[in-house]
Amino acid sequence: MLDLLTPAQQDPILSLSIAYRQDTRTDKMDLGIGVYKDSQGNTPIMQAVKVAQQQLADEQTTKSYVGLAGNEAFNQAMTDLLLKGTDGYQRCATVQTPGASGALRMLADLMFLAKPVTTVWISDPSYVNHKPVMEAAGLTVKFYPYFNAATKQVDADAMLDALSKAGSDDVVLLHGCCHNPTGADIRPEHWQVINELAQKNGFTPFVDIAYQGFGAGLEEDAQGLRLLADSVEEMLIATSCSKNFGLYRERTGAAIVIGKNAQEAMNAKGRVLQLARATYTMPPDHGAAIVETILTSDTLTQQWRSELDAMRGRILSLREALCASLVERCGDNRFDFIKQHQGMFSMLGLSPEQIGKLRDEFGIYAVGDSRINVAGLTESRIDYLADALVKVSS
Ligand code: LMR
Repeated sequence: MLDLLTPAQQDPILSLSIAYRQDTRTDKMDLGIGVYKDSQGNTPIMQAVKVAQQQLADEQTTKSYVGLAGNEAFNQAMTDLLLKGTDGYQRCATVQTPGASGALRMLADLMFLAKPVTTVWISDPSYVNHKPVMEAAGLTVKFYPYFNAATKQVDADAMLDALSKAGSDDVVLLHGCCHNPTGADIRPEHWQVINELAQKNGFTPFVDIAYQGFGAGLEEDAQGLRLLADSVEEMLIATSCSKNFGLYRERTGAAIVIGKNAQEAMNAKGRVLQLARATYTMPPDHGAAIVETILTSDTLTQQWRSELDAMRGRILSLREALCASLVERCGDNRFDFIKQHQGMFSMLGLSPEQIGKLRDEFGIYAVGDSRINVAGLTESRIDYLADALVKVSS
């Protein structure tokens, strides 16, 4: 049987991490996988997480099973963080999942179960795992134009024109904030148009919000999602604690379903649990227990929020410093779009050959589509990166 298999295609992000680890150059730079690094180049454990972990180590009395939906106090806290105050908050249900990719898959399976003819519209470009997850669930994938390569911003006219053709058999997957891979976010007035189109044409919005707090702020980053949750009849949400709690390896996320009414949402939750049972049964507990501990304590919540603010502030200053260094080297502001992008990533618009040169000649690892992880940069290497970018692009 196994001899029938051909070798698997490499994931463009995860394979880059392996290549980076194997590179023996001491001045190499990892701007590939979306992981935050401090000024020493380490991915720290947040202080609030350390305190919560210690508390759990001291107070937890059992490692017995939790349940198919995971930690319900965590589910409630994540729902509050995203949806409190919206109309959808009254008619939603939440399931803890192994990371946001687990949420994407469970919601994709749910869509296929409910309506196998569903087409999922994904931004072009999008998170590398969106298409594989949707297709693995049996769904059809279509792309909508998103990024204007010339302005390095969202091509709003083209996006909205394409989305105006989506109808009741369609689900439109949107990035809540900090678009991966481009860094170009949908403006509030365009969220408004998407909201109107969803209501008029009947497509279901599906918001992937894996970077809440890394863009303009914890509340600001949820504005587009909340606008939709206030008005549309049904909606799907995948969220993650990988980045904003720094819990990457703990695989902590949630799937949220908003229905026409609370009963419909609970019905959908029951189906997600049935799908989870047949996939991984239960999500891992530790990360969710940490998040629950933080979000149910005012002191820890305050500490976590200020640490998150500091991470966001640092990414902004890295963006500013990189642009300043690039202006010095090229004499113009052609790279200033990096300052306008939000979150961890920026798409530079370099060719695969130029990205190859960055890696081979300078030891700088960026994803082949020219996405760099600005949050992987350290202050002391900014000029090195700026030099390399100018050299490969001239
Ligand atoms: C990324 O896009 O780099 C991260 O979200 C990690 C992943 O799952 O690919």
